[in-house]
Amino acid sequence: MTAEPHDVQTGAHGGGDRHVLRFDRYHRLLHVLLMLSFLGLAGTGLPLLFSDTDWAHVVARFWGGFVVAGVLHRTFAVILITVFTLHLWRVLHRLFVEKDLSILWGPASMVPQPRDILELLQHFRWFFGVGPRPRFDHFTYWEKFDYWAVFWGMGIIGGSGLLLWFPVFFAKILPGWMFNVAMLVHGEEALLAVGFIFTIHFFNGHLRPDKFPMDPVIFTGRVSEAEFRHERPDEYERMARAGRFEAQLTTPPSPELVRTGRIIGTTAVTVGLLLVGLILYAVFA
Ligand code: HEM
Repeated sequence: MTAEPHDVQTGAHGGGDRHVLRFDRYHRLLHVLLMLSFLGLAGTGLPLLFSDTDWAHVVARFWGGFVVAGVLHRTFAVILITVFTLHLWRVLHRLFVEKDLSILWGPASMVPQPRDILELLQHFRWFFGVGPRPRFDHFTYWEKFDYWAVFWGMGIIGGSGLLLWFPVFFAKILPGWMFNVAMLVHGEEALLAVGFIFTIHFFNGHLRPDKFPMDPVIFTGRVSEAEFRHERPDEYERMARAGRFEAQLTTPPSPELVRTGRIIGTTAVTVGLLLVGLILYAVFA
């Protein structure tokens, strides 16, 4: 791994005033809402799933009791479904109104491509010190994995959740056994989602050596030029070759923005890891 000076303020590799815009305001706002609603859903749903444990009663009391936790669960669900709809709307707008086909294939696309398999293999070689670090472009294979895990997970957990929420309506069109399946799927998918987001996603975003203790990019939207060139050399070269790199440069994030991002991020990581600890305690203790 190339060790470059680590900036404690921004968490970035190297200092410098030149920053690249990675996430615009829309992305950043949706991600913050996604985080808050997911944490809220996990925090209100898990006490229902583990209602036979002591800690579930403590957590439910924190919300105002199991009934209030159920109401809050539905409120957070509305926020999550809104976030998902806004995201889908933007994707479809780019595709059908702006006719932006780069969303379907190529370096700026979330669609998995042969290059991702190659980079995964290269990365594993690099982990064991037998090859160079892959020259990543705009999205890495694990970022795509995280994205699709949430995308499909959202369909499964959201669909089953709506069934549990509006049983009278869905009973008119669906057989009864579907409700048993929905209950099972909702709980199991919740455990999978919580386990994945609060361990692997957190590790990728904040805890791996390049990023530790936290990568504030999803809050600030910006990465320093040095970090950008280190992390995504192929994207840098592609943009420089096309003469588009300078146009992508932006101002550094304000210290207040970095601090706010760190506070939100640290709170989310702490609550998430605590919930994982409580699940493990409920399952194994
Ligand atoms: C996005 C849409 C979602 C909807 C519409 C939804 C809806 C619901 C509903 C109506 C219930 C039954 C609550 C009650 O009995 O008072 C429930 C239970 C639950 N939800 Fe959700 N939910 C959603 C997302 C999530 C997410 C993202 C998680 C976890 C991260 C989650 C975790 C749980 C758990 C663990 C239960 C308890 C299941 C059981 O008792 O077996 N839910 N959900």
